[in-house]
Amino acid sequence: MTIVSAQPEAQKGNAAMYWSMAYKVSDALMLLTNGGALARLAAQPQTAPALADRLGWQADPLATVLDVLVRAGVLERQDDTYQVPAATAAVLPLIVMESQVRQWHAANQSLEKMVQQGVAADPLSQIPGASYLDNYQAAMAASARALALHLFRHGGLAKARKVVDIGGADGAVSVQLGQLMPVAAFAVVDRPPVAAHFQRRMATLAQPERFRFVADDVTRPDALLAVAADADAVIISNLLHLLGARHIRALLLALKEVLPSGCRVLVYDQFIDPAQFDAASMMVIDWVNLGSLFDLCDGDMVALLDTLGYADAAARRFPLLPGALVGATIP
Ligand SMILES: C[S@@+](CC[C@H](N)C(=O)[O-])C[C@H]1O[C@@H](n2cnc3c(N)ncnc32)[C@H](O)[C@@H]1O
Repeated sequence: MTIVSAQPEAQKGNAAMYWSMAYKVSDALMLLTNGGALARLAAQPQTAPALADRLGWQADPLATVLDVLVRAGVLERQDDTYQVPAATAAVLPLIVMESQVRQWHAANQSLEKMVQQGVAADPLSQIPGASYLDNYQAAMAASARALALHLFRHGGLAKARKVVDIGGADGAVSVQLGQLMPVAAFAVVDRPPVAAHFQRRMATLAQPERFRFVADDVTRPDALLAVAADADAVIISNLLHLLGARHIRALLLALKEVLPSGCRVLVYDQFIDPAQFDAASMMVIDWVNLGSLFDLCDGDMVALLDTLGYADAAARRFPLLPGALVGATIP
């Protein structure tokens, strides 16, 4: 893969200086999100003194920090009133999760341990306390609607009746797809501990019978391959970055062997865009911490699917989604 050095729009001047300072803005953003300040501003635009009063915080330092976030493009300000633009409001659960992940990796010295000793760290299996998994599921669910819309419109799913959503978590994406595909049935495959989150989401649905949970570990697929045998479509969204190259290849190969001819396979992930340095490029550090070392661009995924014998593999990017969608068909 060719790596091109590209600077984001906001980055001016010395790249090393910019990135050594960027954590200050991340810290401020996470503090205000975790402390509930951004949720309050999202619910009702207000001045710094009014917000400080409600939170029991100090108005002057709060105003100064809010202004930095305005200049960084995270907040908006009209006269003395601060407000949260829709793009920021949409990712508040993600910021909470990022904050937890950041604290956990810092305390665990994850990057140091991985780079110096090759010892990987998986916060999903190690962070104690239920709130982490709750926040993780909330962060994933936040983008489910936009993701489902794009999968449906651009994935060739119109005729699909049996959909397998691999790494489908609590079923957030499947449930959204279910609204667009009213006669389709969905099998959501994920690790056993995620079943409780799936059941919780199902309890909110009027007709949960179209959705079922299949517990499996995709690095040793078993139950997955049984449900995949008569699937019309398979969705693999935001899962591959958690697996190493060997497991990605093995999973795609195993699916290719069992999926019926004509089945659509849709891979959505945080593929690197070689033309720019964006959020996906930064997430590569997460994948180093995890030990998966995922750094594929969408063209790499198309080439892998071609090599494994999938037909019509093609990639697309969309203005409203951070990742890329790679679709293919079983010949
Ligand atoms: C980042 S979430 C993606 C959720 C959803 N597909 C989406 O795009 O919003 C990744 C999911 O993959 C699941 N996962 C990770 N490793 C797995 C494995 N080895 N077997 C099964 N599921 C796995 C996680 O439990 C998690 O629910």
